[in-house]
Amino acid sequence: MAVRRDGSLMRDKAQSFRGSRIVIAIVVGVLLGCVFALLYPHGFLSSDPLVQNRRIGNSDLQSSSSQCEPPERINMLRFDIGALSDKNAELKKQIQDLTEKLRLAEQGKDHANEQFSVLSKPHKAGPFGTVKGLRTNPTVSPDESVNPRLAKILEEVAVHRELIVALANSHVKPMLEVWFTSIKKAGIANYLVVALDNQIEEFCKANGVPVYRRDPDEGVDSIAKTGGNHAVSGLKFRILREFLQLGYGVLLSDVDIVYLQNPFNHLYRDSDVESMTDGHNNMTAYGYNDVFDEPSMGWARYAHTMRIWVYNSGFFYIRPTLPAIELLDRVAGRLSREKAWDQAVFNEELYFPSHPGYDGLHAAKRTMDFYLFMNSKVLFKTVRKDANLKKLKPVILHVNYHPDKLPRMKAIVEFYVNGKQDALEPFPDGSDWQS
Ligand SMILES: *[C@@H]1O[C@H](CO)[C@@H](O)[C@H](O)[C@H]1NC(C)=O
Repeated sequence: MAVRRDGSLMRDKAQSFRGSRIVIAIVVGVLLGCVFALLYPHGFLSSDPLVQNRRIGNSDLQSSSSQCEPPERINMLRFDIGALSDKNAELKKQIQDLTEKLRLAEQGKDHANEQFSVLSKPHKAGPFGTVKGLRTNPTVSPDESVNPRLAKILEEVAVHRELIVALANSHVKPMLEVWFTSIKKAGIANYLVVALDNQIEEFCKANGVPVYRRDPDEGVDSIAKTGGNHAVSGLKFRILREFLQLGYGVLLSDVDIVYLQNPFNHLYRDSDVESMTDGHNNMTAYGYNDVFDEPSMGWARYAHTMRIWVYNSGFFYIRPTLPAIELLDRVAGRLSREKAWDQAVFNEELYFPSHPGYDGLHAAKRTMDFYLFMNSKVLFKTVRKDANLKKLKPVILHVNYHPDKLPRMKAIVEFYVNGKQDALEPFPDGSDWQS
């Protein structure tokens, strides 16, 4: 995974390098054209002024007929170059967008091919290094009867059958506002707030935010109004289930998150669950060999263990597949029976293997790039102090590690959106215990 992450960074670099090479080529071309136009105002081949103008190929130059004085001409050319470099910037962006789309299409194709070849061929293993197990499970057939009203909303809101979903009640209203403002600013259209009370429903409507209010008599919702964080967390997994049953991929999002780019351009979509991590470096985010030392065992004092920092159950992408729905059911089931933290349960269900008396979940999982889907520990402990990392633009920032969420969210917007370089500085790395 670490390798793949690096690969994606390299790809991005290669892409922007390619993009800037194209821009440089265009600018050089234009400059050469200008030089020739100056040296040969009547053209090499023809003395017809109309043809000359056409060769220059820009209507702005039509007015500068062949008897134009050189200084004036230079000014016009300058003006022209200015206009062209604006166009180049636009072009560059379009090229980047197209390359991104191509990348996504190729990814989708690869998964489909992989899946098809694994399913259709007789099961004889190929040569060394060519064998791949199943990773991308097929999506379930959508079942609209589960919730026709929600199905209708999703038809309008989702893009490519995907959307961001957040649950909110009035306790989190100020954060919700920063949340949807950043989403709008990042140009993301496919998002939906599941309003847990009337005030939030009205607030969303007043701000043009897509909102879905559950019917108050839909059972579990009584928890929603009065419930603390953890009760709401259990509810989250039950509500999510309907989205998956309707055939949608959901990017579940807490509201203490600031969006800087469109996350759907940065998903792999090869796993049942693709989640941001609470880890803060390569090891903790992507897994490592943690050696346990027991000196009294002498020769065998070292026992190797595997560790990985938990997935953050406040920001993950979940595909509409059977293992994904099974995961939601397992987590919701356990939360209704035990007094437990939803994030711990979410991770245990994802990771613990089958063993005597227990059937583990067979779900594919992927850890998101911790610099792109950044938690607030990474930002405040590492990134803000590192000149290079500071230049990186994450996709999202999740203020999960700090209790003073709202001021930190606002500072993140100041820093990344409004370019205020010292906006992150007033905050301590961790939380102040005194406060
Ligand atoms: C983390 O992993 C990436 C990709 O493998 C690598 O480029 C980078 O140098 C690693 N960082 C550290 C601090 O080891």
